[in-house]
Amino acid sequence: MKFEKFDERRYDHEKGWRINPDADAGAPERKFPYVDNGTGFIDPSRYYDPAFAQAEWDRLWTRTWLIAGRASDVSTKGDYFTFDVGTQSILVVRDGDGPEDINAYYNVCHHRGNRLVMSEFGHAENFTCMFHSWAWNIDGSLRNIQDRETFRDEVVCDEPGLAPVHSGLWGGFVFINMAEQPSQSLTDFLGPLPDQLAPFHFEDMVIVKDTQTWWPANWKTALDAFLESYHVHSVHPEILGFYDDYYQQWDLFENGMSRMLMEFGTVSPREDDQQSVNDGLKMMLEDAGMDPEGFKGTAAEVRKAIQDFKVKAYGKDGKWFDGLVENQATDDWAYFIFPNVTLNIHPEGFLFQRFRPDPRDPEGFVYDVQVMLHPVEDAKPPVYMGVEDGTDCSGRTRPERNHIKRGEPGLGFVLEQDSQLVPIVQQGLHSKGFKGMRFSEQEQRLRHFHAELDRYLNGEK
Ligand code: FES
Ligand SMILES: [Fe+2]
Repeated sequence: MKFEKFDERRYDHEKGWRINPDADAGAPERKFPYVDNGTGFIDPSRYYDPAFAQAEWDRLWTRTWLIAGRASDVSTKGDYFTFDVGTQSILVVRDGDGPEDINAYYNVCHHRGNRLVMSEFGHAENFTCMFHSWAWNIDGSLRNIQDRETFRDEVVCDEPGLAPVHSGLWGGFVFINMAEQPSQSLTDFLGPLPDQLAPFHFEDMVIVKDTQTWWPANWKTALDAFLESYHVHSVHPEILGFYDDYYQQWDLFENGMSRMLMEFGTVSPREDDQQSVNDGLKMMLEDAGMDPEGFKGTAAEVRKAIQDFKVKAYGKDGKWFDGLVENQATDDWAYFIFPNVTLNIHPEGFLFQRFRPDPRDPEGFVYDVQVMLHPVEDAKPPVYMGVEDGTDCSGRTRPERNHIKRGEPGLGFVLEQDSQLVPIVQQGLHSKGFKGMRFSEQEQRLRHFHAELDRYLNGEK
């Protein structure tokens, strides 16, 4: 191992590491003050106890803001999508042309409780229940009660519209909140994230990959694994040639949110060979549009060379790079949106991962993996975005959602490695010999997440 980057090897948790020690107080990559969430062990029962899962349902899922989907999936009046979480299905529908004309409702018929809409996406003039044909307009108002004359007036005189759910928009995402009255506005909930992420222009990105699967593990067992890079050297050693898994910047924000800034185009300090421009670095150079064989610099010069090249190339047509800083050209800016979404952000686009609980089994979760990109006609997205060759990245066609079983191809090799690991961790959590999780400071984002989860469960939130 070569730990040469900093003079002092000893880690100071209050100071942390920073990807740019020269960043000034207003720089996007500035280091935020440490948040002390203590040193307690995390009780493993929260990963399998049905009572804990029920408490999460009652106090977290039904009371916080959740990303339901993309506004681009409801771009035209009458477009809709459904979002299922736990026992609930939510219908998100556009009923006008303005940005505020996206609304959310419980996806249920007021007659006998049938699920109203069955498909994940679609376009409708109105919504008609398949059981007895009650119907609603796309603005949620009641349209028709079949054979109304056979109902006594008291039963239907309230003319029930679809039951509304709070909704909001940011970054091209549609959020929902099932609370009667959310305790925070969406803006307050997101805190500093919109400002920090504005230069990436999420709202202009298009979905190019959409995969859904189910893994036998608690949703948090999987989420935890994506909030840290501590496991990369043992589970994903293939990427250490072009990825610094050790000297990372961890920043903790309000409401459980956090980020992890990770250098790409740098050899991991764990690697013996720090000099050669290895295959991983060559891949990074090629992805950026450079000639890897013609590159004459050292391994340590690759990251900066790619940054210079990309800033110049993207700067040419004035898009993608307005407001971004150099290290964003190469690095992975990994954000966590509490409670269940991670984003791995690059200037070209981002990887979106969402973890949803299985309402029938605390040891199962629904795993969504999507890739959003700035539309490109012919350029190939970087390999690390996990987009298959030949994918249409122009934004003209929205890819179908690919439902796969665990172990089937479709996630890309890094996530497939995680798919092998996470269910085994889930089994280990039951051991009578395990006394609870002991987090390193590399795992401070996990501690921060669990501390916020506890605030929901104990009634502080
Ligand atoms: S349950 Fe929907 S019309 Fe009867
Ligand atoms: Fe992993």
